[in-house]
Amino acid sequence: MSIISKDIQQAASILRTDDIVAIPTETVYGLAGNIYSETAIKKIFSTKLRPFFNPLIVHIPSVDDLPEIVSYIPDKAKLLAEAFWPGSMTLVLKKQAKIPDLITAKKDTVAVRVPNHPVTLALLEEIEFPLAAPSANPFGSISPTKPEHVEHYFKNDIKQVLDGGACMNGIESTIIGFEGDEPIVYRFGALALEVIEAVVGPVKVKTKDEISPEAPGMLERHYAPSTKTILTDDLEDVVENYSNKRIGILAFRNKLNREVSSQIILSETGNLEEAASRLYDALHQLDHENIDIIIAERLPNHGLGKSINDRLERATK
Ligand code: TXA
Ligand code: MG
Repeated sequence: MSIISKDIQQAASILRTDDIVAIPTETVYGLAGNIYSETAIKKIFSTKLRPFFNPLIVHIPSVDDLPEIVSYIPDKAKLLAEAFWPGSMTLVLKKQAKIPDLITAKKDTVAVRVPNHPVTLALLEEIEFPLAAPSANPFGSISPTKPEHVEHYFKNDIKQVLDGGACMNGIESTIIGFEGDEPIVYRFGALALEVIEAVVGPVKVKTKDEISPEAPGMLERHYAPSTKTILTDDLEDVVENYSNKRIGILAFRNKLNREVSSQIILSETGNLEEAASRLYDALHQLDHENIDIIIAERLPNHGLGKSINDRLERATK
């Protein structure tokens, strides 16, 4: 029997009274509520200022709970769930009839994952219902990877930020849907495409549908600081053009040899996992400094570099 901390007990009682709390996951902090409570789910949308057309991810404690949420599991979904759960992958599958329309934006599919964080897994085991949890940030802004990011956004709006420290992976889950029985990546994320393909073979990628976004994480402007942000392959060159501005640099591994207002290096050793885990915290930091422009360096476009570049591109729109 696991010992449940006071904080987890408090979160469980808040959730049982149709209210919401912020929860830690290994990707980003989420704003969580009981999927079967209309009051809680509406509160998630209103707190985030999130449009109702944008469906939520359902969080369950174990792969064994998947049949409660979805009505059909393709073989490759089973393989993926067994390989990567608990972990940073969300599957979009045909929903069970009882999953409320508010969760799925009236789609006949539902997004679901088993998060890999001991605090939230203990909470999910403790309560009697799955949790819907979008990232705990106002719609369109930078996702939170530390409890203080959530407090900065929502201190007065929610009763509890369940503290689980800094998020290990630091970037949202990779979202995988299905066309027939074939997997399709809807959103790049903390699980690299190459790692997924090692389990199920080549997968299609469909992350740019702007007219009817399958995953509105694909909306063009998203994950955005309030400071103007640009993305470049050549920091030296671009910085020249802004010599009269207060510049914040977000570099991959090397410091720019020049005086600017602020510089953050994502990984001195060029490690893409480390870069991903630091990305949002770096953007939060730069956004709170007194600068005119953030100039970010594009990362190598493989592994998690692809996911980081995706977020940086959306931050610049
Ligand atoms: O890592 C994560 O996934 C975090 C943590 C808290 O689990 N959650 C997260 O949630 O990033 P959110 O709401 O910020 O992003 C969820 C994405 C949205 O872009 C949404 O459109 C997509 O999941 N989604 C949800 N249900 C879907 C569905 N039925 N079909 C397609 N996309 C769906
Ligand atoms: Mg989000």
